[in-house]
Amino acid sequence: MEEFHKTRRLPPYVFEQVNKLKAAARAQGADIIDLGMGNPDLPTPPHIVEKLTEVVQDPRTHRYSASKGITGLRKAQAAYYERRFGVKLNPNTQVVATLGSKEGFANMAQAITAPGDVVLSPNPSYPIHTFGFLMAGAAIRAIPAEPGPEVFHALERAVIHSVPKPIAVIMCYPANPTAYVADLEFYKDVVAFARKHDIFILSDLAYSEIYFGDTPPPSMLQVPGAIEVTAEFTSLSKTFSMPGWRVGFAVGNERLLAALARVKSYLDYGAFTPIQVAATAALNGPEDCIVEMRNTYKRRRDVLVESFGRAGWNIPAPEASMFAWAPIPEKFRSLGSLEFSKLLLEKAEIAVAPGIGFGEYGDEYVRIGLVENEKRLRQAARNLRRFLETADETLHNVVPVSAAR
Ligand SMILES: Cc1ncc(COP(=O)(O)O)c(C=O)c1O
Repeated sequence: MEEFHKTRRLPPYVFEQVNKLKAAARAQGADIIDLGMGNPDLPTPPHIVEKLTEVVQDPRTHRYSASKGITGLRKAQAAYYERRFGVKLNPNTQVVATLGSKEGFANMAQAITAPGDVVLSPNPSYPIHTFGFLMAGAAIRAIPAEPGPEVFHALERAVIHSVPKPIAVIMCYPANPTAYVADLEFYKDVVAFARKHDIFILSDLAYSEIYFGDTPPPSMLQVPGAIEVTAEFTSLSKTFSMPGWRVGFAVGNERLLAALARVKSYLDYGAFTPIQVAATAALNGPEDCIVEMRNTYKRRRDVLVESFGRAGWNIPAPEASMFAWAPIPEKFRSLGSLEFSKLLLEKAEIAVAPGIGFGEYGDEYVRIGLVENEKRLRQAARNLRRFLETADETLHNVVPVSAAR
């Protein structure tokens, strides 16, 4: 049967292939250590859950809510930006609450894109960064994911060679899947470029609070003048371990936010009010739960890097995010990331996300999520050691990729 125009632009998730194998292995009784998904495993702090259960008792909260978020929630987000980044925002015109940042991002793409518009996106990237715009009818032009001079060379070339000229550039630091981080100096240059060429910046700051060094990740909006061209997305999913609650935000440029709010007003009535009230309590509440969560991810990162390293797989320590971006061990690299991930699942009972699922330039890597506890990570390292010890034998039995094609 012929595919629909929209679904033809959405190839089946590469991750589905690994997920299917994972489910089959589990059905056979295998104890798979799942580091494949970016799904936080830590519980939401109790004071936030309590607020939800308290508020839900009031029948007035059972009605339709406000599409762009209740006032208190938008004020709480503005207060967070002021406290954390020193950025002042008008909660009425410069803040929109979204049903998770992914929804906000996708609907921003719908709101601002005309068919054939060119959008610049890192490769590899979190899938919605490209597919949100592809669904909206845009053409994507890749830029490097690593913040540095190459990004600016790519931006310059894009402005000269794209027809029509790009409308927007996507930035995501700390990055999923690469865990790259950017500093304010880099952001200053991005903002200067975007303002000069009249290009919007969409900044995804979902990992604003998951960092392991002394310097917290900055906001693009800290750059003077950034608000003229920038919308930035944050999320409670990772900060407060609330991924299933679906609460995120878009903040920044009024024209961009008005467009997003307009589209959303046709699509949704906002999150369930008790969820919005609990999210407000999260943002206005104590910060020790954030610190605790950060420390948990940091300990896991240290265990992962140390124990996998001793098992024979050297993985650069991520400075932020809940992922390690791991170069495929030399011996296995020519298999590509999907075949390597399948092998790792089958022989070592470890699930990871193949880098190719995030874009063609990710194929020499896999993404490892810090979403199992330290004991399980050590267990994964033991499995890995055995896997690597028998690498030659395993590779001997794998049909060479070139022959399989
Ligand atoms: C970079 C990035 N942006 C956005 C999201 C989605 O977050 P939310 O739960 O707020 O939709 C994720 C989730 O993994 C992410 O990694």
